[in-house]
Amino acid sequence: MQLEKITKRFIELYGGNSKDIRFFSAPGRVNLIGEHTDYNGGYVFPAALTMHTLIAARKTGGNTINIAATDLPDRVCLDINNLDSYRQLKWGNYQAGVAYIMQQEGFEITGCDMLYHGDIPYGAGLSSSASIEVATAFALATFSREAKEDNSLIELVELAEIGQRAENEYAGVNCGIMDQFSSALGKKDNAIFLDCKDLSYSYVPLRLKDKKIIIANTNKKRSLQTSKYNERKAECDAALGQFKMVLPEKEFLGTVTVEEYLQYKKLLIIDETIRKRAKHVIFECDRVLKSVNALEKGDINTFGELMIQSHYSLRELYEVTGVELDTLVEEALKIKGVIGSRMTGAGFGGCTVSIVEDGAVDRFINTVGKAYANKIGYDATFYISDIGDGVREIYI
Ligand code: GLA
Repeated sequence: MQLEKITKRFIELYGGNSKDIRFFSAPGRVNLIGEHTDYNGGYVFPAALTMHTLIAARKTGGNTINIAATDLPDRVCLDINNLDSYRQLKWGNYQAGVAYIMQQEGFEITGCDMLYHGDIPYGAGLSSSASIEVATAFALATFSREAKEDNSLIELVELAEIGQRAENEYAGVNCGIMDQFSSALGKKDNAIFLDCKDLSYSYVPLRLKDKKIIIANTNKKRSLQTSKYNERKAECDAALGQFKMVLPEKEFLGTVTVEEYLQYKKLLIIDETIRKRAKHVIFECDRVLKSVNALEKGDINTFGELMIQSHYSLRELYEVTGVELDTLVEEALKIKGVIGSRMTGAGFGGCTVSIVEDGAVDRFINTVGKAYANKIGYDATFYISDIGDGVREIYI
């Protein structure tokens, strides 16, 4: 939807004219490798998409944050003096959670009208929720600074942390920081190599030459609130507890090395499930390091191999794939010109990411699409993804 149309809808909903309307945008993300490692203080390697959430917003000076979306009938009015009371909202709880946490952190939350518009498929594992959180945090931080006449720059890492806290403390999902970090700090044509134990990061240019990143959406709806996501986190915490008996200095499972795992895995033998979860996390972190290394050398084939290993590990050891994701990957790997393919995001449905040679893209979409529909009974959706920038205000 064009900005003009969004502006028109904004005025229909909230009145006034276009003069004071501002636009804020935050992207979704695709994780290239490093899955279920972020909440274990491990490595991830995501990139921001050009698909995004856009907010048209205007300060009102009142006591409410009024929110609406271009594709939903819901209209929600959040009382800024009572932000703790919107946890049960079906739509609007991410915005309320962000405003609530920011207020606690000393931001001056001011009344405003907001209209949300997004093109990230909802619930597909491309971080539509993180993009809502980060865009909201950026808009509210901008208004807060203006209210305080504070000219300092907005701290993007802080915004990512606020988004994650809103998800953890308000929406009840114990997610890591990868999604919010990518949405806040993404950079066009670059992936982010992020070490989640201390949030140190660097950008790695994605020089894919004659290849494309294809995202395939299973269209299987799932929600992390009802999935086994929190259960997996608890299993990893249990594994860390076991390792701490011999490696007391370890604060995160993701910092246990492959060598340490091989040396001490006997400790985990009493519970096979915990051992499998730990093995995935520890080897996945190692795969991220190898991937970054390979890509820096331009060795895309090694990266492709690591993607495939990652998927198999998520299927066999972490058990978060399912027939829809497995079918997409299996069918992708049958096609000549596919360099690598794996599930991306939390799993349990959602999307796969594949690296495909330009000449094989149409064949990939047709062949994988047909095989998927035959086996699963409904269609997958394919996107050729461009890597975009992180959160920002859009000036027109
Ligand atoms: C979801 C979470 C992230 C991360 C991934 C799995 O996207 O929000 O923090 O844990 O799952 O890698």
